[in-house]
Amino acid sequence: MRFDPWNPEFVAHPYGAYAELRRERPVSFFEPTGQWLIARHADVNALLRDRRLGRSYLHVATHTEFGRPDDPEFQEPFWRVIRAGMLDVEPPVHTRLRRLVSKAFTPRMVEALRPKIAQIAGELVDRFADSGGGDLIAEVAEPLPVTVIAEMLGVPEADRHLLRPWSADICGMYELNPSVEAQHTAVRAASEFSDYLVGLARARRANPGDDLISALAQVADEGDTLTEEELVGTCVLLLNAGHEATVNVTGNGWWSLFRNPAELERLRADHGLLPTAIEELMRWDTPLQMFERWVLEDVSVGGVDIPRGSEVALLFGSANRDPEVFDDPDRLDVGRADNPHISFGAGIHFCLGAPLARIELAESFGALLRRAPKMELTAEPEWGPGYIIRGLRSLEVRL
Ligand code: HEM
Repeated sequence: MRFDPWNPEFVAHPYGAYAELRRERPVSFFEPTGQWLIARHADVNALLRDRRLGRSYLHVATHTEFGRPDDPEFQEPFWRVIRAGMLDVEPPVHTRLRRLVSKAFTPRMVEALRPKIAQIAGELVDRFADSGGGDLIAEVAEPLPVTVIAEMLGVPEADRHLLRPWSADICGMYELNPSVEAQHTAVRAASEFSDYLVGLARARRANPGDDLISALAQVADEGDTLTEEELVGTCVLLLNAGHEATVNVTGNGWWSLFRNPAELERLRADHGLLPTAIEELMRWDTPLQMFERWVLEDVSVGGVDIPRGSEVALLFGSANRDPEVFDDPDRLDVGRADNPHISFGAGIHFCLGAPLARIELAESFGALLRRAPKMELTAEPEWGPGYIIRGLRSLEVRL
């Protein structure tokens, strides 16, 4: 099967098509999206670090203040919120935002959250175990990262049920060619979440607490601080970035283990393998399959000239199975020692939340290994519709 991100068959099994791309057309133009597909690890890794490419097309194309001239005007509130966060901007704005936010989000501060995260994961897994089983995604994978980020931001418990739908609706805009309905839903969700956060941020500025919104409201660097719009954009980014991928690593990860029973047994027999196992699960079935970049200056990739103004699609799922980098790449090896997977990205946008994601995954996989040592699948799972943010709809298990 060929690369076809709209075909559910391809979404379920993309790795054969990736192998063919790496072998035969590692840099190829994909007519339906007008993008250059980049399939090899070395090229993906190099382009992520190459400052001649960037995430924001505002640097290469004619544009209005917030969008492309042909973008429908109704999308403006969405992009206003998204571009106030660090992910969709370039230096020097990116450098400034990342430095400010990093002050409230250091690996040490995140590590201090481990007991709280362990408690949340333990409670979710206990409740799931007591019920004897069900949908692992709905009961454990989804609530964990949302609860953690809600705790961190200081979102009151009564409002937390709002976060999951907002996050899912906003992410709808990130799929290839979203429907008009999905675009409207994303705009509405971004506006509602943003209004909600403005209220919360104002309350915390007036009355700071021991939470990330209060910390972000107070960060300062040589007289510089986050504006209200930037603070809100950052919180929206933290919810989205911090949520969907973590859910997918949990769902895809357990599904990978069920499909490789010998590796599952190896991990069950030796929980000390958990750190390498989590990295391997992120490599073997990559939760975010593709990231895009705009070419800001002409580049040549693997002998192919790609002119300024083009868009490249970096195939993370393919890079993570590249035999040039990984021994026996299609084999799941929970003890794999040398594992330079690219699932957290590379370069200036390298995932700011990687230490947090690793703690959440270690705590939830660990709790499930301990509490549900015989967990088994009860139905063949189905993939959700997304290709870029690729995960299972549900994972039915018996404990
Ligand atoms: C950026 C992956 C969890 C916050 C990124 C990028 C990737 C990524 C690939 C870079 C995107 C690009 O270069 O275009 C993941 C994966 C996760 C995860 C696979 C889970 C397993 C988290 C968590 C948080 C987070 C838990 C925080 C709550 C961020 C932020 C950025 C980012 C703020 C933007 C960094 C920047 O632009 O400088 N993530 N992420 N992520 N991630 Fe994560």
